[in-house]
Amino acid sequence: MTDRLTIRRPDDWHLHFRDGAVMRDVVPYTARQFARAIVMPNLTPPVTTTALAAAYRDRIMAAVPEGVRFTPLMTCYLTDSTDAEDLARGAAEGVFTAAKIYPANATTNSAAGVTSIENLYPVLARMEAEDIVLCIHGEVTDHDIDVFDREKAFIDSHLRSLVAAFPKLRVVFEHITTSDAVDFVNAAGPHVAATITPQHLHINRNAMLVGGIQPHNYCLPVAKRESHRLALRAAATGGSPKFFLGTDSAPHLRSAKESACGCAGIFGAPYALESYLTVFDEEGALDAFEGFASLHGPAFYKLPVNEDTVTLERAQTSVPRCLHVTGEEIVPWHGGQTLGWRFLG
Ligand code: NCD
Ligand code: ZN
Repeated sequence: MTDRLTIRRPDDWHLHFRDGAVMRDVVPYTARQFARAIVMPNLTPPVTTTALAAAYRDRIMAAVPEGVRFTPLMTCYLTDSTDAEDLARGAAEGVFTAAKIYPANATTNSAAGVTSIENLYPVLARMEAEDIVLCIHGEVTDHDIDVFDREKAFIDSHLRSLVAAFPKLRVVFEHITTSDAVDFVNAAGPHVAATITPQHLHINRNAMLVGGIQPHNYCLPVAKRESHRLALRAAATGGSPKFFLGTDSAPHLRSAKESACGCAGIFGAPYALESYLTVFDEEGALDAFEGFASLHGPAFYKLPVNEDTVTLERAQTSVPRCLHVTGEEIVPWHGGQTLGWRFLG
């Protein structure tokens, strides 16, 4: 039995840092495990221009602890009025690594998102020409579509045609939650990939709704039924370069989660690698972990792999019920549970 695993240092290809004091307190958790992270732009106001992204990147860098090497990779929040020229310049200058589509009102801080994806096609054409990666929150927002069907509906009504219209555009289908998404990505060409979160590998929707409402298991897209979770586990651990790590760590204070209208988002950063590795271990796929965590993402993003390594050992890790950001309580993913792997650094 393997009791120690050393892999190239991983990257987190989908992450929320927020801003200000919360950001300063959460950045160290990610920088401790990961070399780079794709930082989501859904701040208030959103990160829509090169200038805003460059300033945000500086604020993140200032929050990286002394002596720690960490590189934030910035994304542009696409809106109905995105300036393709500014986006192309930002990418050329190395400020933007990707741009993100949030369908308007699909999730936290997405009110300024795109109201019609098809209207964005001129911007997507420019992104294809400049080889800028497109990250997509793939859910429709129509009120008459059941929340559990919104990802599949997005594939059928938008994603299939988008990918066909821009055959060379690199597209990351973010935080996929369904077997439909797994099938879509597997059937698409090599320019279509997906990130998978730890929570969608660990839980199905029962964890959110059985035994009382469980706000700390609520994120968007919501966890689906068990058959979908199993499809995601097969995809993540199966060795395909189309699937890679993206925690979607989304810090919300405990008070905002445990509320009559609780926020969507799970704070997965603090024990992210322990969480993922537990899944790979359960699936008998430790050999596939480095690909998912450290190799497939850089290959897709056309970035070098990290040269240094991290080591995890088989040992119990007790995840605290509660951590603190800005002096307030925040509940981490797996809070109060014990995981079977420990991160050594
Ligand atoms: C994210 C957040 O809080 O910013 N929430 C979530 O449930 N995942 C936004 C997102 O990625 O949808
Ligand atoms: Zn997210």
